[in-house]
Amino acid sequence: MANGIVTQGGLLIAATGLRKTFGATEALRGIDLHVERGEVLAIMGPSGSGKSTLLHCIAGVLTPDEGRVVIDGEDVTALDADARARFRLRRIGFVFQFGQLLPDLNAVDNVALPLLMSGVGRRAATTRATEWLERLGLDDQLSKVPGDMSGGQAQRVAIARALATEPAVIFADEPTGSLDSVAGENVLTSMLAAVRELGTTVVLITHDARVAAYADREVIVRDGQLSAASRGDVA
Ligand SMILES: Nc1ncnc2c1ncn2[C@@H]1O[C@H](COP(=O)(O)OP(=O)(O)O)[C@@H](O)[C@H]1O
Ligand SMILES: [Mg+2]
Repeated sequence: MANGIVTQGGLLIAATGLRKTFGATEALRGIDLHVERGEVLAIMGPSGSGKSTLLHCIAGVLTPDEGRVVIDGEDVTALDADARARFRLRRIGFVFQFGQLLPDLNAVDNVALPLLMSGVGRRAATTRATEWLERLGLDDQLSKVPGDMSGGQAQRVAIARALATEPAVIFADEPTGSLDSVAGENVLTSMLAAVRELGTTVVLITHDARVAAYADREVIVRDGQLSAASRGDVA
């Protein structure tokens, strides 16, 4: 509580002994990572060091060759592909660098989509999508398609979409990587305001030390292994 975050206490994510190879490339070489409920964790590290692979293995998008991932008491690595997809839909939100919104759908329909997929009715999904967009400061973008928004507005729509299902954890891979620094900062602060209020856990990959400074904790991935970080350690 020293940093003012609302924690319900306890571990949300326990990843142990993660290894993943692609052909001759050892992308992950034995990673252990624990994330507390309500924590905002920044993952830093050089390009190609294994950050995205780590995120994908933890989120159940990729299956690690070795190791185990438990999220909110569920052993994700033990689930079959269908069960893992259902778990992701219910419990996990994703935000990527760009290009994840459906170009032909307006903001409300983009945010409503995961709600519809998880069984919420059309009218309730639309109402909830609108509320999430308003929360992210997008009241005036509701009926716009992504191509008619700025990059920062589109990323905030993506964040609203990730949050709309009220997941236990948001995984974000360079969410501000395609934006200039002012737009990036706006996107980040609106995301963090929402997750702090909800107590949502965030695992955030970033190259940018200023972005990482918003996190409660940073870790650095180098050559597929974790090294503890101190503030200001350059990735
Ligand atoms: N699908 C894949 N097929 C082959 N090699 C991959 C694949 N994904 C990642 N890699 C390799 O694994 C290493 C780690 O990649 P990645 O996790 O994307 O790093 P980062 O996100 O830190 O830039 C790199 O050498 C990359 O080329
Ligand atoms: Mg990456």
